[in-house]
Amino acid sequence: MTACKLSVNINKIATLRNARGGTIPNVVKAAIDIERFGAEGITVHPRPDERHIRFRDVYELKECVTTEFNIEGYPSEGFLKLVESVKPHQVTLVPDSPDVLTSNAGWNAIREQAFLKNVIERLKQKCLRVSLFMDTDLKQIDAAATTGTDRIELYTERYASGYEKSAQQAIADYQKAASHASTLNMGVNAGHDLNLNNLNYFIKNIPQVIEVSIGHALISDALYFGLQNTVQMYKHQIKSARE
Ligand code: PXP
Repeated sequence: MTACKLSVNINKIATLRNARGGTIPNVVKAAIDIERFGAEGITVHPRPDERHIRFRDVYELKECVTTEFNIEGYPSEGFLKLVESVKPHQVTLVPDSPDVLTSNAGWNAIREQAFLKNVIERLKQKCLRVSLFMDTDLKQIDAAATTGTDRIELYTERYASGYEKSAQQAIADYQKAASHASTLNMGVNAGHDLNLNNLNYFIKNIPQVIEVSIGHALISDALYFGLQNTVQMYKHQIKSARE
């Protein structure tokens, strides 16, 4: 089975740093260490209010990230200019408004088809790989495929919240969505609320998933287990699912 990459979202490290206004914890050092501990990617989500990752962090990270650099965000003019100049390996477009606490829905690619097509064409001119944050609705995935996106990132909140009650039920729509996206030649990423309990089952049962982006639970687990152990525990969950 194909491997699945772990991309660690380091927004929460920036949130902690910003709480005191200094440079502790150091976001760049954390990214370098997370890669050294085994992560295959670093994800950041700069928001217009810079309440966690700042635009300056993104430029500094670009200089030191040696694995896959993934920048997520709403494609405002400011965001597009940032990614065009930083040129990460992947740009994940998310439909969230500036004031939202965290991303809470996938794109309505049917309604936003023309907008997304334009944005993606612009990013493609800079040779950037694009992923669209999506729910599991198959009609929406059909529309995503017409925008020219390379990948979709499945929004896994609903899987995570249904997992304890019935993992099988919670994953069913995601299996259909991933295999549908695959037949439309789009790669499949996944993220949001994935954790040490629910990650292995998701990866094991959806062979199309090639990358997961995980932040909140992983950084929280690091408070108990340490960052190095935690990254390795997540990697183990992924690796054992694909053996
Ligand atoms: N993917 C996207 C598009 C996100 O916005 C986030 C949260 O910033 C994640 C993945 C990671 O979610 P979590 O922090 O719950 O692991």
